[in-house]
Amino acid sequence: MSGMQTKPKLLAILIAATAMTACSMTPKTNPDADLQYRENAQAMLQKLSLEEKLNILSGPGIDLEHYRGIDATNLAKEKNVLGVAGYINGVKNDSVDIPAVKLADGPAGLRIRPTRDNDDQTYYATAWPIGSLLASSWDTDLVQKVGAAEGNEVKEYGVDFLLAPGMNIQRNPLLGRNFEYYSEDPLLSGKIAAAMVSGVQSNDVGATIKHFVANNAETNRFFNNTIADPRTLREIYLRGFQIAVEESQPWAIMSSYNLVNGTYVNQRKDIMNDILRGEWNFSGLAMSDWFAGNVFGLKSDFRGRIERDQESAAKQVTAGNDLIEPGGVKEDLAASVSAGTLTEADVDKSVVAILTQMHKTPSYNQYEYSNTPDLRTHAVLARQAAAEGMVLLKNEAATLPLKPQAKVASFGTTQINTLKGGTGSGNVNSAYISHIASALGERFTLNTAVTDFYNQYFEANKQKTKALIGGYDFSDEPAVSDHSQLKQLIAEAAVNDAAAVITIGRQAGEGGDRTATQGDYLLTDAELETISAVSQTFHAQSKPVTVVLNVNGLVDTTMWGNKVDSILLAYMGGQETGHAIADILVGDVNPSGKLAQTVPVQYSDVPSASTFPGKDIDDDGMVDASYYNEGLYVGYRYYSSFDTAPAYPFGYGLSYTNFEYRNPHVVTNTLNADGASGKLTLSVTIANNGKSAGKEVAQVYISAPEVKLEKPVIELKAFDKTTLLKPGQTEELTLTIPAKTLASFDPDHNQWIVEPGQYQAYIAPSSDVSGSNFGNATKPVTFTINQEIVVAKTTPNALALQDGVNQADFVTIK
Ligand code: BGC
Repeated sequence: MSGMQTKPKLLAILIAATAMTACSMTPKTNPDADLQYRENAQAMLQKLSLEEKLNILSGPGIDLEHYRGIDATNLAKEKNVLGVAGYINGVKNDSVDIPAVKLADGPAGLRIRPTRDNDDQTYYATAWPIGSLLASSWDTDLVQKVGAAEGNEVKEYGVDFLLAPGMNIQRNPLLGRNFEYYSEDPLLSGKIAAAMVSGVQSNDVGATIKHFVANNAETNRFFNNTIADPRTLREIYLRGFQIAVEESQPWAIMSSYNLVNGTYVNQRKDIMNDILRGEWNFSGLAMSDWFAGNVFGLKSDFRGRIERDQESAAKQVTAGNDLIEPGGVKEDLAASVSAGTLTEADVDKSVVAILTQMHKTPSYNQYEYSNTPDLRTHAVLARQAAAEGMVLLKNEAATLPLKPQAKVASFGTTQINTLKGGTGSGNVNSAYISHIASALGERFTLNTAVTDFYNQYFEANKQKTKALIGGYDFSDEPAVSDHSQLKQLIAEAAVNDAAAVITIGRQAGEGGDRTATQGDYLLTDAELETISAVSQTFHAQSKPVTVVLNVNGLVDTTMWGNKVDSILLAYMGGQETGHAIADILVGDVNPSGKLAQTVPVQYSDVPSASTFPGKDIDDDGMVDASYYNEGLYVGYRYYSSFDTAPAYPFGYGLSYTNFEYRNPHVVTNTLNADGASGKLTLSVTIANNGKSAGKEVAQVYISAPEVKLEKPVIELKAFDKTTLLKPGQTEELTLTIPAKTLASFDPDHNQWIVEPGQYQAYIAPSSDVSGSNFGNATKPVTFTINQEIVVAKTTPNALALQDGVNQADFVTIK
């Protein structure tokens, strides 16, 4: 390792942009049909007035009356799907009749209003596991099935586009929206997102990947400027979007609120057009996030106003952001056309992009939706998906699984106030939540006195905590020292019951980031006291203690982890949270989830700890800029390159059985013969050596030579999950790494390259390939690249740092 890169390189290179090579998975979209739709859209263009065109670009969404005196509620009433986030306007004139189409959130399920005036029917949707949990399954087939079921609800409730999946990189564990996102790693994020998009779009409804791009903090989210060098943007933040675009052809992409290197993303032609369309061949429509780009002059999540930019909408369309949500910008656009700052050719390009996708929608095709999706069948899948992603972090002396009907004492208010998902537009109105206490009660003999105590405590105190959509704010736990009754209950339970389960809960969501303080990332004194008291008392009776984390994102495990016997990172499992946890605790499901983000020993170890969520540049008390000074070293790329031991490494997760990795080897290496179209194929045989059936996720980490480019010590380049292997059973996994996946970005020459030299491939159960903290070292297999392979050329000068930003602005993290 040659040391931390702290200085972004800024070199002007003049190499022509060419399209990237074809993708590895067949897109679900039929290109011939798309061509036809595009031709139809072109033909339709001739029949539209300028005003009608601008109306299409200015999509009416929520609450416009409140912000600009524009009433969108009539459209909502007329369309009768209440609670959708927005629309794309239709057109009706003498020769064109296109209905408005509907756009609804979101990442953990369809968000519509569940009840309507003068209507006895309910319109509940399935609350699926949150993104972080789905990604921890590392199971693209499963995620595709979830996407297909979610897309079916989109279609059967009369919606056309799902505003999901969210797929920003989990740069820092305190990002409030991490729950909507998949991973700290772009390959895993991209593959999971592609599976989700393919599933959703198999219903002939659209998916919208979001929030494009480098949108990794919620603090002052309308004005936060992400400052990052082009290589970091390409390899970490754009990469996952690239994979999703190339492998699943989403109908839509949503640009993000933030700026990148001084300019709003949705006003950057290099991002919205040159990279997205020119390099990746995106053929869908691009929409803004709601109120993004200072079209409304709303400061910091509506807390104040600043002068709005009347040219914002025109700049967005010119850059390639076709649709502006939630609208209210028609007059702005018309004024820009008159002033000559927006050309009609640019307007037409965006109108065609939008009309092309509108042609595919159920609304356009007059699909008669049922309003009765099969919620029962979906609930079964939701339960399975939730259990598949939960990560067993610790299991001393095989504490888990517990025996069916064992006597269990369950502690913590979150067993009552179980959290199904995060807050904000990622919330889902589901018909029910499976609570942890009741689900444990179905499988074990629950100590009802303990559960009743928490029930009463929650009922008496819930109003004290801030009510949020989807549940109550951080669980308010009773301190053992303040409650003699609780102390007594613990003492009795330790004698009478076989095991203790303590649930810790954390809520968070859109519009704010979390903090590294007690009650948020850190446990409260009351929670720590409960863990200490229960552990001491139960251990005195030789009885085990399990902690279940029903959390939106990571919490500290260091201060208390050694006191308990087992820890299950359950995240938020959607409406089936309780059942899925019980399935694991009783052993009906053998955990096979693995971490999609690193759990640090302490928050200050996080490479972006000192720069998140950003800096107040203009001294107005609000964050304005985030310097991504850790560069490529996000998550395990940092911990493994700088010898910083995590509490639990990326890719790690325990099972109730043991797996052995046999005979890892290179099957074929066509990279030298075939260059950019070549690939590496690896194989490993996974053997279940333990006593119960289970699944294993094998991961390939590559350690690449450094010729011109410095690189993280290891990077994930492939992964696969076995089927359910019985004890003694083996399965051979074949892992393929195409040249483009292996490549690094060479900013000095505007190209993706595979550098020559000897490579190590670690086919490993986690990113701890050295085995320094968890288990054994993985012996790598090696392969050689004879000479540099140029995999793709890219847009010259794209993503350059803004004027005035230089090395001095990038503080070092060490
Ligand atoms: C969120 C998006 C969401 C949109 C519509 C925005 O505030 O950032 O993720 O899709 O609202 O609800």
